[in-house]
Amino acid sequence: MTPSIRTIDVDLADRSYAICVGEKNLAELGPAMRRSGLGNKAAIVTDGNIAGLYLKPVEASLRQAGFETSVIFLPAGEEHKNLDAVAAIYDRLVAARFERGSTLVALGGGVVGDVTGFAAASYLRGISYVQVPTTLLAQVDSSVGGKTGVNHKEGKNLIGAFHQPRLVWIDVAVLRSLPKREVVAGLAEVIKYGVIADAALFRRLEEKLDDILKLDSAMLTEVVAASCAIKADVVAKDERESDLRAVLNFGHTVGHALEALTGYETFLHGEAVAIGMVQAAAISVAEGACDRESFERIRRLVVRAGLPAEIPADVSPAELVKHMEVDKKSAGGKIKFILCKGIGATRFHALAPGEIVARLEESR
Ligand SMILES: NC(=O)c1ccc[n+]([C@@H]2O[C@H](COP(=O)([O-])OP(=O)(O)OC[C@H]3O[C@@H](n4cnc5c(N)ncnc54)[C@H](O)[C@@H]3O)[C@@H](O)[C@H]2O)c1
Ligand SMILES: [Zn+2]
Repeated sequence: MTPSIRTIDVDLADRSYAICVGEKNLAELGPAMRRSGLGNKAAIVTDGNIAGLYLKPVEASLRQAGFETSVIFLPAGEEHKNLDAVAAIYDRLVAARFERGSTLVALGGGVVGDVTGFAAASYLRGISYVQVPTTLLAQVDSSVGGKTGVNHKEGKNLIGAFHQPRLVWIDVAVLRSLPKREVVAGLAEVIKYGVIADAALFRRLEEKLDDILKLDSAMLTEVVAASCAIKADVVAKDERESDLRAVLNFGHTVGHALEALTGYETFLHGEAVAIGMVQAAAISVAEGACDRESFERIRRLVVRAGLPAEIPADVSPAELVKHMEVDKKSAGGKIKFILCKGIGATRFHALAPGEIVARLEESR
């Protein structure tokens, strides 16, 4: 059975764009970029891991559609998500006389996407770019919503800009070459979408988890599209994260703290988020926002997916909470926490750091 192609619109007035989810669709990218009104010069930005696998069909498709193409290679890895990578892109664009009407195509994971998006946001005060995300995390999260940027040596994502892509082109078949651990980590964000906004998606994940883990294309197309639709909806309502968009950070308060405390070495982002979601769900039960059964379903799905659920024994909740961002707006230095109201809805709740430590100790 050929899985159907799904298109989701991100509704942002004159900056609206489409997210297209399909299987083995890289050869159709060029014509789709044409239909999106993109011009003649395009630079494909990618890394060495991805280029050998997917650069050829992408480049051929763009050429056939009449684009004048060039390729810019970035070194792979989070440690290269910095201003040097952005400067390397600028150098190539200046040398090749890229103009306002030219386009960048980010072919890769979240690192390539964030760096390329930031280069596009800033070169000539902003040129077009297209996201072709190749990790599950990038497909359901980083390629959608227009957050671009790089790390500073003092902190992650400290330098950046909001700049929406003109098109997001997703081929779920590329996930077959992705290390299994990366696929599973990306699945944490998919589970997150179910918990925060879509009980039907959550149920589908419970029923079809095995097919998803086997990378069944029809199932992947369905859950990637459902995830993108939720993110698109939230972004359309709150592009610059004044409030609502923060619901996307469910599980991330504990998750980010855990990543920082363990030096970004122990856990992949999605793994830390998985732990964070289970802990946030436990806190939601303790605060009376969530029923016990929903908490158990969340924990069970996380564990079945092969994701961690517990804070490691050698990490103290007190240390963890020290790494959490205190919300300066709330009185008494409270932390703005996202609770789940069962499965499919959330609410914000300000908690004192000491209360979070106590709750995390209780759930051990
Ligand atoms: N902009 C946003 O809204 C947003 C949201 C979430 C995360 N992020 C950012 O995303 C980044 C993480 O992205 P990521 O998880 O995609 O990691 P990544 O970009 O580092 O990719 C992981 C690894 O997989 C390789 N790879 C990518 N696709 C492949 C494929 N199909 N087959 C084989 N190998 C492949 C890459 O070369 C890399 O080595 C972080 O920097 C994070 O800050 C951004
Ligand atoms: Zn995340």
